[in-house]
This record gives sequence, structure tokens and C-alpha cells, in this order.
Amino acid sequence: MTDQFPLLATCARGFETQLDIELHALGVENTLIASGGIRFDASFKTAMKLCLWSRIANKIELLLGECYAPHEDALYDLGKSLPLDPWFSPSSTFCIRAHVNDKKFTNSVYLSQKLKDGLVDRMREKWGQRASVDTVRPDIVLGLQVIQRRARVFLELQGDPLNMRGYRRRQLQAPIRETLAASMIAVSGWSPENDMFIDPMCGSGTFAIEAALVATHTAPGIQRHFGFETLPCFPENASDWRMLREEAKDLTRRARKSLSTSIRAIDIDASALDIAQNNAQTAGVSDLIEFSQGDILKLRPTEAVLVTNPPYGERITVNDLDLPEFYYQLGRHLRTFDNSSLTIISTPELLKKNMHMKPSERIATFNGPIPCEVARYQLGKRNANTHENDKS
Ligand SMILES: C[S@@+](CC[C@H](N)C(=O)[O-])C[C@H]1O[C@@H](n2cnc3c(N)ncnc32)[C@H](O)[C@@H]1O
Repeated sequence: MTDQFPLLATCARGFETQLDIELHALGVENTLIASGGIRFDASFKTAMKLCLWSRIANKIELLLGECYAPHEDALYDLGKSLPLDPWFSPSSTFCIRAHVNDKKFTNSVYLSQKLKDGLVDRMREKWGQRASVDTVRPDIVLGLQVIQRRARVFLELQGDPLNMRGYRRRQLQAPIRETLAASMIAVSGWSPENDMFIDPMCGSGTFAIEAALVATHTAPGIQRHFGFETLPCFPENASDWRMLREEAKDLTRRARKSLSTSIRAIDIDASALDIAQNNAQTAGVSDLIEFSQGDILKLRPTEAVLVTNPPYGERITVNDLDLPEFYYQLGRHLRTFDNSSLTIISTPELLKKNMHMKPSERIATFNGPIPCEVARYQLGKRNANTHENDKS
């Protein structure tokens, strides 16, 4: 299959530029940056490669059809116009997952039904039979998106979202999404060969593990399966897929031979460290991460790239301090880290009011449903003039 198809790679809001850079590095050309994603044309083989290799994308979707939808019947016509070859077969099963954000339409189930009716009528016309619907383990997952009267139907090539790498078997409450963690590492500018990496509040270890995957050139999807593997057209692409996987494994083997990197994961809570170590083992990178128990506010200053996700959101205290006071102490302590940087995710209020530093970069995003900000600060004496007024 050498044709080019219209694709959409989605990512956490605010990280479109990082995703665009990553896609170009993976061989994609002529991209268009949209809100929450990147549009481009590429071959099926490239789409498989992106599922395997993208650290930042949440989904890789293939656009099957789109239309202006002033009323529900437009969805039936759209279903009837979708290309059956090479995506569907009479013996495959499919389901439709709808995401509707349009004042005109409130019933997403009805819209999905209309789309399905058009699609199966087209199948009957063409094949004399139709594929059946399976909402539990379908071979083909279609995403229906209706926003401001524009309806789009996507073939979801990734299956489970790409953040599900397969290594996080155990987790603490509200861990950061793996793809968001990788996006923050990209923003941090960390160089595995030159910089020490520290997550001083590592929880289930996501940042440190993602950093170790970068350092070892490990494809983030190497441990999992993808939606495209159950498409009827997969058998004719299976040898390309085997080759992509073999190349990825070979790259990691070679990277590991000449590896020099320093990654530390610290947490005050011993049970979090236990979980983080377990996850790192599952990811095959536990030998690369130095785990230790400790309090960030007592961490000896060192030159490092710090990337972290402190507690936020809930009404809690940390080290017997309320959250604003904890963030104030955090900013004050981390400023003593010379030639270092901090990339942190939290609520905009906690960062802005309490860190008392001017970020060199700020990105408005979401961690799950919570509006958040990712901020990057230069730390140390040389950047003392960037610090906003301290409390004292
Ligand atoms: C929001 S969680 C981090 C989640 C993590 N990014 C993950 O993916 O699982 C915050 C972590 O900070 C740790 N923590 C709280 N106060 C700390 C302190 N003073 N020093 C070090 N770790 C601390 C908590 O034990 C918790 O594991």
C-alpha cells in the first residue's frame, strides 16, 4: 500500500509545536498545525511508524470522510460515501465512537446510528452483505467528530490511546499521562548525553521512565498492540510492520551499548518509589534510573534538568505546609540549583502566585480534565534577574 492518506495526529493542548517537530523528525512533511493536533498526508507504513515511535501524540487517525452537516441526515449520506476498500470487509466488525460538540446536535448516539446506517447500506450495495457492529472488541474503530456543523469520520489507527505504553501496571492516584510527560521532557530541552535528569517528586515514575526511553532510543510503543493490526488490510502490511519493529529493537540494542546518561527519580513516599521501580522494570529501564527516597525541599543543589508534577488540585498539605506555602518553599529552594532548569506542571494560580520566578516558557494545557500550566524556569545565580519579587 503506497498511497498517501490524510492523517491527524492529536496531542495535549498546547504541545502542537513539539508534536510537529517530532513528526518531521520521523519523516513527515508538509504538516498543518491545528488546535490539539497536526494534519498531514502520509502512507500507511508511515502511520504505523508514528504509532510505534511518537512519544507526544495521543492518537493517529486517518480521515475517511468529512462533510458539512446542517442536519442528522447528512450523517447518513456521509456514511454512504465512505470508502470501503481497503479498510472494511464483510467479515470484520466495527464500532463508532462519537465526539459531538455542537449546539445543534445533542444526541451523539443518534448521529452515530445515522452514520452507521449509511455505511452498512453502502456495504450491502457493494458486497450484498454487511459487516457487523461490535462495541467490545471491534476490528475497526471509527471516530465520529461533529464540531460546529462539520462532521468528520476517522479510522483510529492507534487502538488504545498512545499514552498506554504498557509499562504502567501500577500507579498512584492521578498519575500524569505518559504522552504529556514526554511532551514536557521535549519542552525541557533535556539532552541525555549532557544533562542530569531529575524528577524530585516522581510518584509512579512516569517522567523518569519516559526520559530513560528517550535515552535508549526505545520506541514508546514497542511493548503494545495497535488498532491497525486488526484492520482487514493489515496482512498485506504485516512485513513492513515486522521490519519497523525489528529496526526499533535494533536501534535500542545499539543505543544501549554506548549509553551514558544520568536519571534520578526521588519521592518522599516509599510506596510511590516501590511502584515507580516496578514500572521501570516493566519498561525495561530500571537499570538506568537511580531511585531514592527524599524530600525535595532538602535535596542538595546540583546541576540538572528537573521535570516534575508536584501535588496540586486537592485541598491537601505537603510537609505540613499548605499548597501555596509548599510552592513558595519549592521555588525558593530550587533557585539555588545553579545552571539548571525546572519544567513543572501545576495550576496557573499556584505557579504564578507562589514560585516567584519568571518562566522562560508557559504552556496552557490540561492534565485530564484539569486546566493546567506547564512552565519552564531557568534556575541558578546567572538567571537571578529573571526572578520576580521574592516574599522576603
Ligand atoms: C502528583 S504526584 C506525581 C505523579 C507522577 N508524576 C506520576 O506520574 O505518577 C506528586 C508526588 O509528589 C510526592 N511528594 C510530595 N511532597 C514531596 C516532597 N516534599 N518531596 C518529594 N516528593 C514529594 C508525592 O509523594 C507524590 O508521589
